[in-house]
Amino acid sequence: MNKLIKISFLLDGRMFSVETKSDRRLLDILREDAGITGVREGCGEGECGACSIFFNGRLANSCCIPAIAAEGAEIDTIDGFSKTEEYSIISQAFADAGAVQCGFCTPGFIMASAALLRENPRPTDNEIKIGLSGNLCRCTGYTMIIEAVRLASGRMARNV
Ligand code: FES
Ligand code: FES
Repeated sequence: MNKLIKISFLLDGRMFSVETKSDRRLLDILREDAGITGVREGCGEGECGACSIFFNGRLANSCCIPAIAAEGAEIDTIDGFSKTEEYSIISQAFADAGAVQCGFCTPGFIMASAALLRENPRPTDNEIKIGLSGNLCRCTGYTMIIEAVRLASGRMARNV
């Protein structure tokens, strides 16, 4: 049954509470209630990665998460992530590699790249392909995106 629920969760380091219909998706709450439009809606069914977030520290598609599942969770979006050094390195690498055209998919790719590099700081091209396989780009082509992750990986290694 679609009822009104109240949920609270940690959003980019701050407590966020909202009253919402129980059938809404976390993606809608982030975009419409929290105003985080960098979390994008592409396919709406878990296929494109445009809506990527970190959910309790793991990469997840917010279009596939029901609102109620966010209760008590720790959620990080591209909005909060964009204030980090990690973001600066990855986004600069995307720019330098020419991996951004319309930019629609870019926040999702940056979140997915960060998740990959946290787990595997020196990925091979094949590991990059696998790590980013949940994200779709309609315009750039994946060669430049792979190059961007390679660049970011090298720059991060020099930074430590
Ligand atoms: S909009 Fe969520 S995966 Fe495409
Ligand atoms: S840069 Fe346009 S969809 Fe990826």
